[in-house]
Amino acid sequence: MNVTALPLKTLESDHRDLAVFVYEDAGFAGAKALSNAAKSALNAKLKEEGFKAGVKEIARTDLNLLGRHRRVFAVGLGKKKGATPETFRRAAGALLGAIRSKREKIAVLCSEHPQAVAEGLLLAAYRYEEYKKGDADKLASASIVAQNPASRAALDKACAKAATYASAVCFARDLVNRAPSDKTPQSLATLALTLKGAEVTVTVMDKASCATLGMGSFLGVARGSQEPPVMVHMVYKPKAATKKRVAIVGKGVTFDSGGLSLKPPQSMEEMKCDMAGAASVLAVFKVIAELKPKAEVHGIFAATYNMPGPDAYKPGDVLTAMNGKTIEVWNTDAEGRLILADALCLASKQEPQAIVDLATLTGAVVIALGSKVAGIMGNDARLLAQLRAAGKRADEAFCELPLVEDYKENIKGNIAELLNISKVRGEAGSIIGGLFLQEFVDGKPWAHLDIAGTAFTSGESATYAPKGATGSPVRTLLEWLGAL
Ligand code: BES
Ligand code: MN
Ligand code: ZN
Repeated sequence: MNVTALPLKTLESDHRDLAVFVYEDAGFAGAKALSNAAKSALNAKLKEEGFKAGVKEIARTDLNLLGRHRRVFAVGLGKKKGATPETFRRAAGALLGAIRSKREKIAVLCSEHPQAVAEGLLLAAYRYEEYKKGDADKLASASIVAQNPASRAALDKACAKAATYASAVCFARDLVNRAPSDKTPQSLATLALTLKGAEVTVTVMDKASCATLGMGSFLGVARGSQEPPVMVHMVYKPKAATKKRVAIVGKGVTFDSGGLSLKPPQSMEEMKCDMAGAASVLAVFKVIAELKPKAEVHGIFAATYNMPGPDAYKPGDVLTAMNGKTIEVWNTDAEGRLILADALCLASKQEPQAIVDLATLTGAVVIALGSKVAGIMGNDARLLAQLRAAGKRADEAFCELPLVEDYKENIKGNIAELLNISKVRGEAGSIIGGLFLQEFVDGKPWAHLDIAGTAFTSGESATYAPKGATGSPVRTLLEWLGAL
């Protein structure tokens, strides 16, 4: 499905369905094209239906509007005070859910937050169908009405931006939802290579190249699996020369069994999602030529299974990362930080002004913040503020956790420099993860997003995000990169 701007004239010359968005206490959210008489007639009809315009409330009626007899859907927004773009994204998602199987075309008459409306429609239209042939949706196209000719250009732009964002988010969702055996590290590398372009180069490092580079921490984790690991490095260089350079780094554990420190069955069920960080990096590069950020962007991800094979790394083993730091492994299930250690070393070697890593790193962040809020940590207040602002614009929430200096003591090794888990069990698990990662960024400005709770949900997480992969935090990353 796509969402485009529709000139009022075109609408007047056909009989397609109409949708209006309505505040509980302030009427229509911009329906200038309707005359006062039309508005009163519609209001009277909606009143008859008992429509109160509460959040998620939808009513339908028939009425002669804008030259034709039409089916009209009214979508509730709740109270005007406190309404945000997210209110509209969710309302649009609810609208799509209500009509997808029933109607062929819909034109939305709403002048507020068009990008959020288009995103809500596009993201709600998503279904994961790689393994089953679902019923085809009737809804073939949706549009937002340009109620006066002057609004057309802005509306076109909003729809285009929403299309870029939604295509990235849905790309990430597809990858994260895919069965673990069907997304081998090599298949992710092959996918990355398809994203090459005029401004994008892609380098795939196999096991041997990673060994040459000294990535002993990453390769330690990979030892348990028959499937070879890959480290992927993508670079976007804008056409106009720039000195700005940033790196995004993703955890790509294509299935996390825990390794020899095997997870119990229930904890393993959703561990195909453990490559959501890598999927986010790939998703950004999928649309980066459309986004056209003004900075050079490095996208790096480390991909491997974490399995208990005959040659698997063992509790007690000592691994050496690319920066020479030695790590004592006490728990093979704390593998994300081990693969990121080398990916972050590679990122910091590019001398970026900012590194952002994305990782489904700890179960502790799920307990602390749940499925709606991701953890954010880092060593640079400016970068953290930038990311939180981008998250606000994208309506993805982040909560900062402090990188408490005193806790560093808890990851000092006995026979090596670092431990991969804390000596003090059951305390500050997400912060410990962040403190460990910080050892590999060489003092560069860096932020760590712990997306273990937000990237994948077992229930529907919004009207526009079905259960399973959410595609978070892709929209935040796009907002951040777009504003650099
Ligand atoms: N991939 C998991 C974290 C995770 C948990 C992601 C829930 C998504 C949902 C990670 O590799 C892990 O196993 N972390 C351990 C760390 C512990 C051994 C220090 C955890 O959180 O239990
Ligand atoms: Mn793990
Ligand atoms: Zn993991």
